[in-house]
Order: sequence, then C-alpha cells, then structure tokens
Amino acid sequence: MTVDFKKYIASVQDFPNKGIVFRDITPILSDGEIFRAATHELAEYAKKRGADVIVGPEARGFIVGCPVATELGVGFVPARKPHKLPREVERASYDLEYGSNSLEMHKDAIKPGQKVVICDDLMATAGTLHAAIELIERLGGEVVGAAFYVELPDLKGREKLPNIDIFSLVQYH
Ligand code: ADE
Repeated sequence: MTVDFKKYIASVQDFPNKGIVFRDITPILSDGEIFRAATHELAEYAKKRGADVIVGPEARGFIVGCPVATELGVGFVPARKPHKLPREVERASYDLEYGSNSLEMHKDAIKPGQKVVICDDLMATAGTLHAAIELIERLGGEVVGAAFYVELPDLKGREKLPNIDIFSLVQYH
C-alpha cells in the first residue's frame, strides 16, 4: 500500500512555543491501516539494516518503536527521561528544537555488539538522537540506523550525525 502520510500529520502553528510549527502524528496512530503501514515501512528499513533490537526514546519513540520491534520479532529497549528506570543507568543530556532534556538507559539493556535501530516520531535538531546514540555506544551497541515518521531537514540533523544512516517517511521544509 502506498500512503501519502502527510495527509495524516496535522500542522499546528505556535505550539508549544511561538514560531514552532508542531507536526502532530496522532492521526497516523488513530487510523489502524495507516499506523500499520507506517510501522511496516520502518520495520522493513530496520530489517534491511540488520537490527537485533529497537531503541525508542520517551515518549513518542515508545509508540513508534514498539510495534516495529514486534513486527520483526526483536526486542525493544526504552530510553527514558531521568529517574524513571529503577536499576543502574547511563545518562546523556541533549538540546531540542525547544528546550533540553536528558535520557537514561539501563546499563545492561544492550548486549555488546548488538545492532540497534533507533525509532522515533520526528527528527528536528537530532538532539534526542545524538543522546540515544551516545548511550547505546557506551553500552557496547552498534547503531546501524535511525527511523522516523517525520524529518525537518532545515534543522540539519543529518549533517550533525554524518555517520548515521537515517530514514524518514516524510520531510517538511
Ligand atoms: N519535536 C521537536 N520539534 C517538533 C516539531 N516541530 N513538531 C513535533 N515534535 C517536535
């Protein structure tokens, strides 16, 4: 099925701050056929890259990444906001299109040498992606790709991570 995913992304001016155009992917999620098609595209990409495990950053990365992992029959590892995970963690900080935050992963979440594809809804400045890569590599994993529903190429995320293979369903300039 070829889908025009942009028909299922709502653009909201000045949210959450003035000057930001928020790309809301919830219409993809609420349509079962479209959600499945988006999941399938990301899963095909992750399979092609040889993923052993999917990492999804909190919170929308959980929604996007979990069904990709189940479609492939591989594990899912959450990268969480601080103080959510109960055991020993690694932490990395990052800047966003608006604001900044930190991500944590359990120290034993990735087995050394595992091939990882990171899944999330949107790549803006690639701050979240950068932090996730740092964590995965500290844990001994190999990031073989990153897959998104939406990419904002004008924020030059790809240029900041020239060694990372990046896939996105749609781009907004
Ligand atoms: N995260 C960072 N920038 C965003 C945007 N413009 N829309 C939705 N989520 C975002």
